[in-house]
Amino acid sequence: MGLQDVKTPLFLRNLWYFALHSHALKPGRILHRTLLGEPIVFGRTEEGEVFALRDVCPHRGVPLSAGKMLEGTVECPYHGWRFKPSGQCAHIPSLVGEEGVDPSKIGVRKYPLAEKNGLVWIYMAEDPQVREAATPAPDLPIRPDARPTLIETQLFPCPIDHAVVGLMDPAHGPFVHKAWWWRSSKSIHAKAKKYAPSHLGFTMVTHKPSSNSTLYKILGGDMTTEISFQLPSTRVEHIKAGRNQVVGLTTCTPLNEHETEVTQTFFWNLWWIAPFKPIAQQVARVFMGQDRYMVTLQNDWLKFNPRLMLIQDADVPAMWYYRLKKEWAEATAARKPFVNPVPETTLHWRS
Ligand code: FES
Ligand SMILES: [Fe+2]
Repeated sequence: MGLQDVKTPLFLRNLWYFALHSHALKPGRILHRTLLGEPIVFGRTEEGEVFALRDVCPHRGVPLSAGKMLEGTVECPYHGWRFKPSGQCAHIPSLVGEEGVDPSKIGVRKYPLAEKNGLVWIYMAEDPQVREAATPAPDLPIRPDARPTLIETQLFPCPIDHAVVGLMDPAHGPFVHKAWWWRSSKSIHAKAKKYAPSHLGFTMVTHKPSSNSTLYKILGGDMTTEISFQLPSTRVEHIKAGRNQVVGLTTCTPLNEHETEVTQTFFWNLWWIAPFKPIAQQVARVFMGQDRYMVTLQNDWLKFNPRLMLIQDADVPAMWYYRLKKEWAEATAARKPFVNPVPETTLHWRS
């Protein structure tokens, strides 16, 4: 299949994207982020509620994020108009009261947010008027009070699709992630993995990982892994070994058409790992850096406009990603129900 045949928008709408970690947003503070090419101001009230508004003042267009939180509103730095977390204008200082201007009739776009487990998700609706998400934000297989234990974020200089495909592709591991303490390209062997369709994506169903993996050696023989992917760009790996659990969340958030922020957030209940956290952080940085290096090379060379290929079976998850995107885009445009195109199957490859 040639990728050029796929006519699907780069950014899918009416879905949840990972926006930022809760700790980045302190009470009474605001911050700017450009996501999917849209300027957004995130804020947190003194009461702790997070909100997101279009970061453009409807008066004269300056960024609201250059202003500040004041009495539960965002105050524009230019003429002091104030906006509630709902987006509604609460105050226009220049009014004397006889102009017939009603501030409450003025507003900025409000984005639905969800905050759970120390993560802030944003719902990017197709229609800017939409103020409630049609679906709940992604749920992780962890306790409601679980908080991230390790975070690694890197900016990938590529469109979202190459970041997502680069991370789900199983065949690059032995070549890109070579390390004496991990594995070498000599350790390639045949694999068969069962897949099933799941919510907005697919799941590599629970299996025992290959016995030469380092984590397997650390966590022990009864270890199992389940990996699921859901649109637009959320991957959850759930590793269990007796009482030990590790949940790794990988998200790709497009900042614009050419840059994608890749974030790995881990949750675990391994108290004994604490002294080794700096090592774990370094490992996460090196690993993601290797993926980043490869998509950087690729992105530089896409200027020659090569015709790209996806082959059986190692690239089948990537094919599913493009089919899922196409299906979602068509279903959204036609306002019809989304039908998951992924079959239940076993994929075979060597890696
Ligand atoms: S530009 Fe924001 S108040 Fe005038
Ligand atoms: Fe990788």
